[in-house]
Amino acid sequence: MVSGAPFYVTTPIFYPSDVPHIGHGYTEVAVDVLARWHRQAGDDTWMLTGTDEHGQKMLRTAAAGGMTPKEWADRLVESSWLPLLDTLNIANDDFIRTTQERHEVSAQAFLQKLHDTGYIYTGDYEGFYCVGCEEYKQPSELVEGTGPFEGQQVCAIHSRPVELLQERNYFFKMSEFQDRLLALYEERPDFVQPESARNEVIAFVKGGLDDLSISRSTFDWGIQVPWDPEHVVYVWFDALLNYATAVGYARDEEEFARRWPAVHIVGKDILRFHAVIWPAMLMAAGVEPPKHVYAHGWLLVGGEKMSKSKLTGIAPNQITDVFGSDAFRYYFLRAISFGQDGSFSWEDLSARYQAELANGFGNLASRVIAMINRYFDGVLPQPGEPSEADLGIQQTAATAAAAADAAIERFAIHEAIGAIWTIVEELNGYITTQEPWVLAKDPATRERLQTVLYTAADGLRALAVLLNPVIPTATAKLWTALGAEAGLGALADQPIREAGEWNVLPVGSQATPLEALFPRIEQEVGGGAAA
Ligand code: ME8
Ligand code: MG
Repeated sequence: MVSGAPFYVTTPIFYPSDVPHIGHGYTEVAVDVLARWHRQAGDDTWMLTGTDEHGQKMLRTAAAGGMTPKEWADRLVESSWLPLLDTLNIANDDFIRTTQERHEVSAQAFLQKLHDTGYIYTGDYEGFYCVGCEEYKQPSELVEGTGPFEGQQVCAIHSRPVELLQERNYFFKMSEFQDRLLALYEERPDFVQPESARNEVIAFVKGGLDDLSISRSTFDWGIQVPWDPEHVVYVWFDALLNYATAVGYARDEEEFARRWPAVHIVGKDILRFHAVIWPAMLMAAGVEPPKHVYAHGWLLVGGEKMSKSKLTGIAPNQITDVFGSDAFRYYFLRAISFGQDGSFSWEDLSARYQAELANGFGNLASRVIAMINRYFDGVLPQPGEPSEADLGIQQTAATAAAAADAAIERFAIHEAIGAIWTIVEELNGYITTQEPWVLAKDPATRERLQTVLYTAADGLRALAVLLNPVIPTATAKLWTALGAEAGLGALADQPIREAGEWNVLPVGSQATPLEALFPRIEQEVGGGAAA
């Protein structure tokens, strides 16, 4: 399976200053679905996630908690960030922490290279710094504070005051890369996606680029600048490098050549770091820019970005404890157009769980398998000559599978799921019109019954394969109940780009009873009743 095209996909590395909320969970599940899809397509896939542990935000949060930043990070990573991956059923290949030696060694090598080639100089800087963003802000990026910060200028994202800093720092000559960056956006229109993000980045870079302050000397929580131990590397410069250091940059050239360049999926809050600073850093070091930078939208609460600093965060396990990880994965990727903002609501989640997962998909699977058990002792029957209706289902599956794969290539995850769901809808309609329970009453229609149940079962086989990246727990149960493993092997090994082919599930496969894939939720959740 590793002979296919390389696909190296990343999440941002998150600040473990605090616990994760569903915004972080959203990015994790989106990237995991892309990775699982490509893995199942036979691409040479690698998914990276991790934590961003240096910088002032970490230093201050840890101090407030009475710990060293390393102790704080260790505790949060162990108790919250690694468990998040289990909670959401994430199949990442690696987890990088910027405090790991492999990262520090390779990051220093990168910095030294930029220093040696003349892209770094010493200068003085004075500016407004937002510790929430870990970024210097232009006066135009600040807004009037409200509440306790009335009368002060605050960060537009964090709504907290900025700090005036004045330091002698090392600078990266980012301004030199304006033309090369603009040429990159021009030559590769799919480099920054979606289109709105691309336009924003182009407008920003056309406005001119300043050089970037890349070191700090007023605290020591960070990676040492290799030629000057008085300085630590600016946290964003350090963090962006994780994508290269994790796959062997300056340590394992073979591994790096195999994986690089990456596809970066990030929230739109950190688009510029990824689409401007990061490719400029790579150009300076003579490394190919990323393949794509895709900025997804924000989960909103009351019209504002959900965030830990504003205490609007909902913990992912509040959702998964009630609905399960599959429902979390499905809901956020189906209900929100990837690339746009979306509002989370318990009512919407409950409604979609019941209508789409329980009644739409779960019920279809239970009914079909129950009928194969009841009418054929669980042994998948031989189909006869297909009718128009049967051919219609085959056509739906072929079209949906191709459309889903094309949508995944465009990062339109919601469209991919929508395309796959046409199979669910068509199959439900097919069962209703074919009435297998009527066919079962008359021995004369026995062959027609075989054809209808075979068609429905092979449709479920296609659904299991196509939905496996999105709802892996439910599809694994379905695969078992279909008795597919004996004839076809493990679900994860089914080639997803061939899922739309027909007559794949072997006649004679032995079905076993299927419990409800999405059981009824009885308890009250969040703001209201579940279902
Ligand atoms: O920015 N909606 O880390 P961070 C959707 N360490 N996604 C959201 C979200 C929301 N309301 N809130 C957070 C950092 N996210 C840096 C990144 S990368 C080299 C360094 C997700 O902990 C989204 O992916 O603040 C966003 O970009 C990320 O969390 C920010 O996480
Ligand atoms: Mg943030």
